[in-house]
Amino acid sequence: KSAPEKSATTPQQLCKGCREVIDKVNERYSQTWKKQEDNYQKFRSQLSNKCHGSEKAIITQANTAVGKKIQYDGEKKRTLQVTPEIFSTFIKERPFPNKTFDTCAVVGNGGILSNSSCGQMIDSAQFVIRCNLPPLQNGYEKHVGVKTDLVTANPSIFLEKYGALNGRRRPFVENMRTYGNSLLLIPAFSFGHNTGVSLRVAYTIEDFESPIRPIFFNPEYLQSLAVFWRSQGVRAVRLSTGIIMVSLALELCANVHLYGFWPFSNHPHGLHALTNHYYDDRQTKVKFHAMPVEFDLLLRLHSEGVLKLHLGECH
Ligand code: CTP
Repeated sequence: KSAPEKSATTPQQLCKGCREVIDKVNERYSQTWKKQEDNYQKFRSQLSNKCHGSEKAIITQANTAVGKKIQYDGEKKRTLQVTPEIFSTFIKERPFPNKTFDTCAVVGNGGILSNSSCGQMIDSAQFVIRCNLPPLQNGYEKHVGVKTDLVTANPSIFLEKYGALNGRRRPFVENMRTYGNSLLLIPAFSFGHNTGVSLRVAYTIEDFESPIRPIFFNPEYLQSLAVFWRSQGVRAVRLSTGIIMVSLALELCANVHLYGFWPFSNHPHGLHALTNHYYDDRQTKVKFHAMPVEFDLLLRLHSEGVLKLHLGECH
């Protein structure tokens, strides 16, 4: 499979708001990028003081005891008391080393990755984070790489692609092979209707002895991140998975590189039309996320030398 086709657009047909953002990118992105250690340290300590991602991002048996009431972050009045059975699906201890990773790649799913040749550069990172179980084979390798240390999954994927794991479970287990023994990070406690299927994912992986390791987002962490980013101007119903993973990476890694973050439908350099994802043209729910606002903040962090955004081709 190659990149999905999208008809050619002339520069006159730029997407809404694209001209402004492309001008901004030309102004802020074109200078040679250098990490600004002071800015990075400052932003990182703000994040870790407010959100404590290294200890709190993931639910573990060490931070969440049997009997504890978990408060859902997407449904404020909903709680769930941890039973021994639920507790048994939690990872024992935090899955990240105490030492900071040197370089992390956070890979968004934007169509900007198509024909980018960024695969090798992504795979050279010490820790590679991907979002929503993206396809990595059949020709995408060259542009997105294959190394995966952590991959997220919105429970809607389990419902749409795997019949909520109520029937046959082998197709799910087989498809997970692409991600080897990576961590599979699921927001199991954001909305009540997603908890059952998320637990079935954990049971299926255990029953089939699949090497992938399921872990759950701690809703307290997601809630604190929402407050943090709201204070920076992101007023959406939900943060995008991408910005959540960038936030975590900024706590876990000394050098954070972003690929596939470009929520606009024209390429910033060639101005040609782009699909929303590198593998399809399914659109983002604009009512739910504020990706252009998030992108503006990521671009600011790039120009401050806190992280590095990759928008062009990789050489
Ligand atoms: N993304 C982006 N530009 C795009 C598509 C995606 O910047 N054109 C980033 C977003 O941060 C997004 C992440 O890549 O969260 C993963 O993309 P995707 O799987 O499309 O996320 P969604 O399903 O749209 O939403 P969610 O964030 O809820 O998982």
